Amino acid sequence: MKYYIGLDIGTSSVKAVLISENRIERTVSADYPISFPENGWAEQNPEDWYNKTVELLKKLASEYPASDIKAVSFSGQMHGLVMLDKEDKVIRPAILWNDGRSELETDYLNNKVGRKFLLEHTGNIAFAGFTAPKLLWVYNNEPENFKKTAKIMLPKDYVAYRLSGSFATDVSDAAGTLYFDTENKRWSSEMLELLHIKESMLPKIYESDEVIGGICDAAAIETGLNKDTKIVIGAGDNAASAIGTGTLNNGDCNISLGTSGTVFVCTDSFKCDKENAIHSFCSANRKYHYLACTLTAASSQKWWVEDILKSNYKFIETAEIDKNNVLFLPYLMGERSPVNDSGVRGMFCGLSLDTTREEMTLSVLEGVAFSLKQNLDIIRSSGVAVKRSKVCGGGAKSRKWMEILASILDVELEIPLLEHGGGLGAAMLAAKSVMSEEEYSNLEKEFYKIKERILPNPELQKYYAGKYLKYLKLYPAVKSVEQ
Ligand code: XUL
Repeated sequence: MKYYIGLDIGTSSVKAVLISENRIERTVSADYPISFPENGWAEQNPEDWYNKTVELLKKLASEYPASDIKAVSFSGQMHGLVMLDKEDKVIRPAILWNDGRSELETDYLNNKVGRKFLLEHTGNIAFAGFTAPKLLWVYNNEPENFKKTAKIMLPKDYVAYRLSGSFATDVSDAAGTLYFDTENKRWSSEMLELLHIKESMLPKIYESDEVIGGICDAAAIETGLNKDTKIVIGAGDNAASAIGTGTLNNGDCNISLGTSGTVFVCTDSFKCDKENAIHSFCSANRKYHYLACTLTAASSQKWWVEDILKSNYKFIETAEIDKNNVLFLPYLMGERSPVNDSGVRGMFCGLSLDTTREEMTLSVLEGVAFSLKQNLDIIRSSGVAVKRSKVCGGGAKSRKWMEILASILDVELEIPLLEHGGGLGAAMLAAKSVMSEEEYSNLEKEFYKIKERILPNPELQKYYAGKYLKYLKLYPAVKSVEQ
């Protein structure tokens, strides 16, 4: 038997998905902490990602013959800034994708350097979550740390480096840095100069399904894996999820409801939306895609149900969707697409003495869905008709949320039988590096089965059409309130 492992280096945990040629054999996961040192900041310790990954690999290598584990690949939270010194020591905690501290630097990039320059050299404008504004923040606020920096990398690339000794990244993750020329798939020398860094500080760029080496001696001892197990670089989590759900061809859509909520739409060639509110990135199958990101999706639901209500999710699955005026703006960590405002915060609106906890909870699910609709509509306005979408991530387990989402977005939602988007995609990228084309296409047939299709409900659609117009008025209103 041959096995392949996908490692999903997420924001709350690392998950490992071990597959054979026709099924998922085993999944394991391990949590790590995230710290919020200030309002709107988010950091993690890269060593935690590596140590927890080793824990999982060790477990898998003790349960399956290590010589049968042929390749390992990655899906990683995107945009995180990891800085190493010349001894390869982590200089400071990683600054994550949902960290909004670089508001000033983002503003400088978009308005002083200018969107035109950024678009010409990277294909994107600046968002606070991207890596470049964070690098500038370190340059401006922690000059000692900046001076010590010898290597700059992304979260999954740090784990890949520790496992293989190869300093590498892939095109899908590199595209989220804002110092990568996305269309031409190379580092942008113009951006590097502006950011005061040299190309030698950056990893070598690969396509997502390429082998970057084997397991290095130290990692082979720590994990129990064989030195000839291949390490495949993998992809940013949204591009990896697209592989895991079979979102591969022009116009195909995948929605992820994880910590963040994303809309991913494939394009055969490089394309930008005219307002640049949506990202234009490389895919893991050598094509491109539009990506839009709502920063708090399942994390809004978790915050409200677990942290505030101190409850669980059962009550909402049986709640009736009744007409009410309760609205929620899901901007708990500021917002990425399309408003690009890291200073704004969330709100409930329309509360009255008869408001119930069911209505408030439904409004959280609706608010996230409205935010995704705003993004999807921008992608649609660029000429891509999206009538159907795959959906993955923890939020996809809620049937209620799926009904709301299908009606608000006006799409038929396809729930994959195998629900491990990013981790599965990473395992498939690992398998692809070893398998023949025929073997891989048989694997795709097995892994892309659909469990259920959820259609928009015309009654709900009418109700939500009116509610969406009110939702659109919330951001301009809350923007004018000092946060
Ligand atoms: C995408 C983004 C998030 C993270 C979450 O641009 O920032 O989806 O990748 O892990």
